Amino acid sequence: MNNFTYYAPTKIIFGKDCIKSLKEELSVYGNNILLAYGGGSIKKSNLYDTIITLLDGFNIFELSNIEPNPRIESVRKGISICKANNINVVLAIGGGSVIDCSKVVAAGYYYDKDAWDLVLNPDLITNALPIVSVLTLAATGSEMNKNAVISNMDENRKKGTSSNCMIPKVSFLDPTYTFTLPKLQTAAGAADIMSHLFENYFQKATDCYVQDTIAEGLLKTVIKYAPIAIEDPTNYSARSNIMWASSLALNGLTAAGKGGSWSCHAIEHELSAYYDITHGVGLAIITIAWMRYILNDATVNKFAKYAENIFDIHDNDKYKQASLGIDATKNFFLSIGLPSKLSEVGIDESKLKLMSKQAYLHGNVRNGYVSLNEEDIYNILLMCK
Ligand code: NZQ
Ligand code: ZN
Repeated sequence: MNNFTYYAPTKIIFGKDCIKSLKEELSVYGNNILLAYGGGSIKKSNLYDTIITLLDGFNIFELSNIEPNPRIESVRKGISICKANNINVVLAIGGGSVIDCSKVVAAGYYYDKDAWDLVLNPDLITNALPIVSVLTLAATGSEMNKNAVISNMDENRKKGTSSNCMIPKVSFLDPTYTFTLPKLQTAAGAADIMSHLFENYFQKATDCYVQDTIAEGLLKTVIKYAPIAIEDPTNYSARSNIMWASSLALNGLTAAGKGGSWSCHAIEHELSAYYDITHGVGLAIITIAWMRYILNDATVNKFAKYAENIFDIHDNDKYKQASLGIDATKNFFLSIGLPSKLSEVGIDESKLKLMSKQAYLHGNVRNGYVSLNEEDIYNILLMCK
């Protein structure tokens, strides 16, 4: 286990109707609020009306229509609103896209030049307005972490930035807010949570029994409850377990002591940058090919352990056991309605070379569980055709 610092200061307020204390939590920061949200799901579900009623007495300014794969243009717009109205706190209501956009808006308030600089260079982020989030989609863990992923479609770039000052101060996690999620978003969220766990679980660091056992518990949670939530969207038990798993999967807990960089996310970011696909959907497709591609003498024991601990698969041949574990992962994704091929999400071969090059250039894939070069990424993408 490597040395580490674990810092997860977000106050989590969890459970049905927990939003009741929103006013109390926000009033600590001031009266001027930027209310940030997406394309309208919170209006359909009436959450918007609930929030507006609860915020009686505050000055509310709105940043609406934040896109899935949030654009730098929305960030810039949000910063202008904040600067023009002396905003005290950013209230993000939505999934990862809304929270990520809000984070860079909050940081951009203290930055005089163009906000894209803050995405390209996290070191430029020195301060941020306080962020409070109300989560409506369990997936990214943004509600409890320092990361924000922003897209600049003019440059076909989707890039993550991060800073401790962008960690939400408070996050409200009411599982009932995820009852309205479409099946595909629930499934994509599940794949994203699992991918966050895989990216840390499959790393070179050894002696991380505690992190790996936590990761296995969270993986089993998602595998148990995602099909239930998809079948029965208002199942509170399923939604609550998935929601808490999403936060714990990417709040530093399972990454602590691990080191190494992420491979599947680096590749997925290029798919979204060129084709604007749903993050979790892209990950489900890439993950299976990546697992098969990197299965070798150095990784087989870990994959065999994964097969045994997650799917109770046993075989005298450890390669067979590992491979059956990967098959089971693929079958799980298929069972919750996720695609397994790029062609199913409208991606043909034309840009695979280009995206491989960009993923190699932008991601730190040399330092992943198995070091990848541009050709490796291309081979992985070819396996996803
Ligand atoms: O925009 P609205 O109308 O709200 O609809 C959204 C959106 O279309 C909808 N939705 C959200 N909650 C809903 C709902 N529909 C019905 N009922 C609800 N309760 O779902 C769609 C997708 O929302 P989005 O926020 O884009 O999804 P997600 O939470 O998966 O976020 C994805 C983004 O986060 C980034 C991804 O790359 C992507 O840009 N990530 C952020 C990370 C982080 N901050 O740590 C890490 C992740 O690995 C990831 O990269
Ligand atoms: Zn992710």
